[in-house]
Amino acid sequence: MTIKERVFSGMQPTGSLHLGNYLGAMLQWIKLQETHECIYCVVDLHAITVWQDPEELRRSIRQVTAAYLAAGLDPQRSIVFNQSQVSAHAELAWIFNCVARLGWLNRMTQFKEKAGKDRENASVGLFAYPNLMAADILAYRATHVPVGDDQKQHLELARDIAQKFNNDFKGGIERAGHADGVFFPLPEPVITGPATRVMSLRDGTKKMSKSDPSDLSRINLTDNAETIARKVQKAKTDPEPLPSEAAGLKGRPEAENLVGIYAALNGQSVDAVLSEYGGAQFSAFKKALAEAAVARLAPITSEAERMMQDPATIERILADGSARAHAIAAPIMAEVKDIVGFIRS
Ligand code: TYM
Repeated sequence: MTIKERVFSGMQPTGSLHLGNYLGAMLQWIKLQETHECIYCVVDLHAITVWQDPEELRRSIRQVTAAYLAAGLDPQRSIVFNQSQVSAHAELAWIFNCVARLGWLNRMTQFKEKAGKDRENASVGLFAYPNLMAADILAYRATHVPVGDDQKQHLELARDIAQKFNNDFKGGIERAGHADGVFFPLPEPVITGPATRVMSLRDGTKKMSKSDPSDLSRINLTDNAETIARKVQKAKTDPEPLPSEAAGLKGRPEAENLVGIYAALNGQSVDAVLSEYGGAQFSAFKKALAEAAVARLAPITSEAERMMQDPATIERILADGSARAHAIAAPIMAEVKDIVGFIRS
């Protein structure tokens, strides 16, 4: 059997999206719509692995959806929905909780970072989070997953889970008519955005993240032009002028990050940027960077703001997406349940 190419990806509705989400993943999502069947999810089940205020969560789900649409996801061509509304995610995650091994999850670096020192007090959901992520993808038997670099380890785990499921239930899978014994495809990470690892504006060795306590560390897709300019101006740098070649950025993480962001925003290579700005002081470069960021983000921000005035339309789009997502996942789940040995009633 040949498995059809299908794209799945998602973002967490915990606060607004930032430049890392946009350059690392969203630009690829938009592009893949041209060539693939795409399913884009607002992963609200993932969000509650750490406590969320319910009203804030509802607002964030709308806000992330608005940002998806404003950035260029087409809800007619692609499926745009929120995870909690399609039961296949939670159901398949449970089955994967029973397929994945404790040792596999113990190796996940993101859990260690997020749980911090107080591991005993982290939710069980935070620990099992990568199993839910595997379920998100495989409930649709998706083959391609566009993400930023930080999701690489989770996707390797999703592949391991798919492989183990295929092995553990080989007989049943063949009896169900999959002659090659492959029920789940091994999903391919697509880590090819223009900046797959955008770093914090305050510390070039840490990734830009929603959970960083300093708002100055990131550019949000909700920031206005003035805020963007201020954040860029306050971004950490070193005292040297910019080098004229990429090799000169070695050991200068903040400079490397800012040049990388500028290149990604303008669709240029790092070398092209440095041939223009080599020898320049950061003050001049930061001015150009702020202008590039505003030019790129302001139309998205204002369109998302406009959409937020009309929550009913956002919710209609999500409901339509959920129904279409459910229509794909339901027969796959029915087959999974047969393969595992449950009785249909
Ligand atoms: P999340 O919500 O943390 O991030 C959403 C997407 O943005 C990318 N990203 C970045 N890329 C470059 N530089 C950065 N600083 C940066 N920060 C975030 C992430 O790699 C991601 O692609 N577990 C996922 C959500 C998820 C998912 C899935 C993704 C749930 N189920 C199934 C793919 C498939 C997450 O927390 O992403």
